[in-house]
Amino acid sequence: FNTGSLVGKTVCITAGPTREPIDPVRFLSNHSSGKMGYALAQACIEAGATVKLISGPVNISPVDRAEVIAVETAEEMLSAAMEHALGVDLFIAAAAVSDYRVAQRAPQKLKKVDSDDLQLVLVQNPDILASVAKHPQRPQCVVGFAAETNDVVRYAKDKLARKQLDWIVANDVSRTDSGFNHDDNAVTLISATSEQSISLAAKNQIAAQLVTILAASL
Ligand code: C5P
Repeated sequence: FNTGSLVGKTVCITAGPTREPIDPVRFLSNHSSGKMGYALAQACIEAGATVKLISGPVNISPVDRAEVIAVETAEEMLSAAMEHALGVDLFIAAAAVSDYRVAQRAPQKLKKVDSDDLQLVLVQNPDILASVAKHPQRPQCVVGFAAETNDVVRYAKDKLARKQLDWIVANDVSRTDSGFNHDDNAVTLISATSEQSISLAAKNQIAAQLVTILAASL
């Protein structure tokens, strides 16, 4: 694709899951592999951008020439975003952020209790994408992902407006051949005035197509 289309631009990307500790040895998380975010980072590097990749814990090899900021929790991801994403040319939130964290992480390993159930109190995590998009030093272009199982485009458009995004990448996660924790993906890229489908392909091909379209919009 169009190599060089992001020369001189800085891109910040969030990727992977977050991990929310319960106690020193346990956490809440999800099955996000980080592949889509890492593929986007790679595509942006190939297009000539300076890339800052804010990454939750993943098992994939780092992207050559990207600056990786490793984080675990959503709160750490938010502070990394406040430090690295503000004022950049393009911010892409591909991370699967845990919606909730444990209200009070136990300082010591929790012991099995003398009853059949144990209750954990959860509190909502901050929305990193919305915090960046609504910040006074908002990046020039802000892109989110929307994983939906039904009414994919409608819910994605809601999210685009609610989080004040320039683009949203809608992902039908009811499909068994793509999306979460898969090598392939099929997406629809939506703005306030446009809608384009990118058919099923490897995540690095989807990433290259997305980056070409996003770069042309800057
Ligand atoms: O609201 P929902 O979780 O469906 O939104 C998904 C989009 O918002 C993704 O781009 C994701 O990276 C981002 N997000 C975030 N911080 C959160 C929740 C979601 O940045 N706490």
